[in-house]
Amino acid sequence: MAKQNRRKKVGLPLLPEHEALFKPLKENGGYATCFFNNKGGVGKTTLVANLAAELAQSFGAKVLVVDGDPQCNLTQYVLDDEDALITYSEADPSSVYSVIRPLTLGKGYGETLPIRTVPKFGFDLIIGDPRLALQEDLLAQDWRDAKAGGMRGLRTTFVFADLVAKARELNYDFVFFDMGPSLGAINRSILLAMDFFVVPMAIDIFSGWAIKNIGSTVTVWQKELRTGISLSEDPSEIPAIDQARTLRFVGYVTQQHKERTGTEPDPDNGEDAVKKRIVQAYKNISESFPLQIATSLNRFYDANKVDPHLGDIRHLGSLAPKSQSQHEPMIGVSGTGSYTQLRKQAREIYRVIAARYLENLGGLLDRG
Ligand SMILES: Nc1ncnc2c1ncn2[C@@H]1O[C@H](COP(=O)(O)OP(=O)(O)O)[C@@H](O)[C@H]1O
Ligand SMILES: [Mg+2]
Repeated sequence: MAKQNRRKKVGLPLLPEHEALFKPLKENGGYATCFFNNKGGVGKTTLVANLAAELAQSFGAKVLVVDGDPQCNLTQYVLDDEDALITYSEADPSSVYSVIRPLTLGKGYGETLPIRTVPKFGFDLIIGDPRLALQEDLLAQDWRDAKAGGMRGLRTTFVFADLVAKARELNYDFVFFDMGPSLGAINRSILLAMDFFVVPMAIDIFSGWAIKNIGSTVTVWQKELRTGISLSEDPSEIPAIDQARTLRFVGYVTQQHKERTGTEPDPDNGEDAVKKRIVQAYKNISESFPLQIATSLNRFYDANKVDPHLGDIRHLGSLAPKSQSQHEPMIGVSGTGSYTQLRKQAREIYRVIAARYLENLGGLLDRG
């Protein structure tokens, strides 16, 4: 298909072992992953956009990204300023809101998905929409109906599952959802429609609590949904119900937003000792993550098959804002001087995370 041609090759050349990780997944395809942490500002949006770009541009994957956050940060990141301005000045832009809207009008699911291409990132996109926040009430109301087995409620609850089913038909290898940080009705509907979730974490104690919340909340939702389906009159009326997705945990990525200065600190030097304490303080917290994950999310993955630590993204300095203002993935930012080094680091970091993501998907899907 001509589609491959518009994908720029900007990352590192692909090694055979990386190709081997993608190949078996490509054959089945259509895996839906959301990136979620009910704590804000942990780097979710940056990770979704850059990991999707790495998979698309370096691995040649066909990726659909859905901006499920009413704040639309991902859309603002990846669309050029003028494009965003024109799009959002329309009275009714085609967006993720257009996917839900027919349901609120009692019309069932829409026929097609409002997909656009984002050549600079190499993936396709369903743009975000501030009006999505207006649907929070509808989804909450219909959830009550869904739990009691109501067909209307179930149909609304499965709106994102239907989106994923349609994306599969369009042969996407991966469908990624960026989300806002709440455990509200929109995010419930997204999470319940996913095959996988990834948790981006900041190195702070709040991330540990967030993980606990995600595990226990999703468990309750899944139970309530199963009850609803068992009470419903005609579940076969909703094709996406059949797909009975089992939500699995792929892993977590830590993001270090605070600059770590200095190299190996010298304990005899007063100033460096301060730096060492700062680094040690991060280390103490991040060392507690594996146990917290194993305790809170053990239902969602098999520890014998995957190591959930996908990687760490260091502070990439001014590459992050530069990438935002150029609306380019970090691996494709143009700039000389310090940007050459930062871009190289970004290429290595996102390659490792993409490879680990694919490796864990393979491990979790292994039925053996
Ligand atoms: N690796 C990084 N290096 C530097 N800044 C980063 C990095 N990752 C994210 N940021 C910055 O941190 C802020 C929050 O990131 P964002 O992806 O918007 O988080 P979230 O979606 O979880 O709210 C943004 O301003 C982003 O540019
Ligand atoms: Mg965000």
